[in-house]
Amino acid sequence: TYPPELVINNQNYSTDSWTNVTPHILSRIGQNLHKQKHHPLCHLSSRLRQYFYQQYDPRKLSPKFSIIDNLSPIVTVEQNFDSICIPKDHVSRTKSMNYYINANTLLRAHTSAHQVDLIRSGLDAFLCIGDVYRRDSIDPTHYPIFHQCEGVQLFNKEQLFVDNKNVRGETKDLQIFAANEHRDATKQEGHTLEAVKLVEASLKQTITDLFKTLFPDASTLNSRWVDATFPFTHPSWEYEVEIDGKWYELLGCGIMEHHVLENSGLGRDHIGWAFGLGLERIAMIMYGIPDIRLFWSNDSGFLSQFAFDDSTRSVRYKPISIYPQCINDLSMWLGKAKIDPLDFYDLVRTIGGDLVEQVMLTDEFYHKKKDRHSQTYRIIYRSPDRTLTKNEINMIHKDIERYCIAQFGAEIR
Ligand code: PHE
Repeated sequence: TYPPELVINNQNYSTDSWTNVTPHILSRIGQNLHKQKHHPLCHLSSRLRQYFYQQYDPRKLSPKFSIIDNLSPIVTVEQNFDSICIPKDHVSRTKSMNYYINANTLLRAHTSAHQVDLIRSGLDAFLCIGDVYRRDSIDPTHYPIFHQCEGVQLFNKEQLFVDNKNVRGETKDLQIFAANEHRDATKQEGHTLEAVKLVEASLKQTITDLFKTLFPDASTLNSRWVDATFPFTHPSWEYEVEIDGKWYELLGCGIMEHHVLENSGLGRDHIGWAFGLGLERIAMIMYGIPDIRLFWSNDSGFLSQFAFDDSTRSVRYKPISIYPQCINDLSMWLGKAKIDPLDFYDLVRTIGGDLVEQVMLTDEFYHKKKDRHSQTYRIIYRSPDRTLTKNEINMIHKDIERYCIAQFGAEIR
């Protein structure tokens, strides 16, 4: 049961029979992993940004693509579904697939929710990057929150047929729209095949070039286009790449439904492509990250591997958890003064370096007769890249003990 109102980001939302968002999911709003410095999803966002900023228009001397990554994930049913022509009875609207705040408001299920607003605001080429929410199982490849990058590019007649000049240098009389064109597998009603084919070529070229840029070493990266269906594009495709003999779907895309452009306030003068790609899937392949849940990890063993400024740097993630932990306790008598646990943690990290995974104070008491404090610390050792030997750990552990004796006047128990 929910209270009559939920407060999210200082905004009040009334609840109703549609409300199904959970506290755990709400607690993730605003974390913006794609904007967290050095986070792998932030590195990938920067690379997308860089690639699309390079697609500038030399006549305008400004970037062709605008990049929007700060829109709230709380959207209306209108934005997420109606604006992009998702039918009223479509399964993707159900409560079992989405996190609703109320019957009219939900956490966006895709960045396509912003297509119409962004076109309305005057953009004709943009990326929209953000967190998206879908009810799902939780396992190494599924998590109910992930991140998407939406890409849209619109063309008017001049932009589309720019290279189509005849021998006299006159623009050929090619049209985007023709009255008696009907819808078939290759195009929408009203679109000419030549316009659709040029937009399709632009879309596929943009995507294949992007992946060549993201995976420069993968000369052997096989890829393919698979026919697909989306309510907001036609024709539509999915782009897949082959890794270790398995095919992975990286994105969905297609020629935007003309109705979506009409909803955006455009008349019969533009045609465009759109794609939506999942950042986690790509980052997992790019860095060899085996489990989607790791993106939410605060473990320095994970994050420290991405602590570099140059986002184009190619690194392979080294699993932190497949080597065994080694747990050693250290109990000691101290004098009248206790050791500040923070000083002890620093000391242990200084001596043990990367091999120390966790340190914690597990027990502490005062012995009246002896007039001494006792403290017990638990130190968990784990190497990122090998199994540690008992001997190796004992040496570090002994160093820590020696330091405590010399520095704090401790007596090891
Ligand atoms: N919104 C679609 C999804 O989340 C992806 C998509 C975007 C497909 C744009 C086509 C065009 O699955």
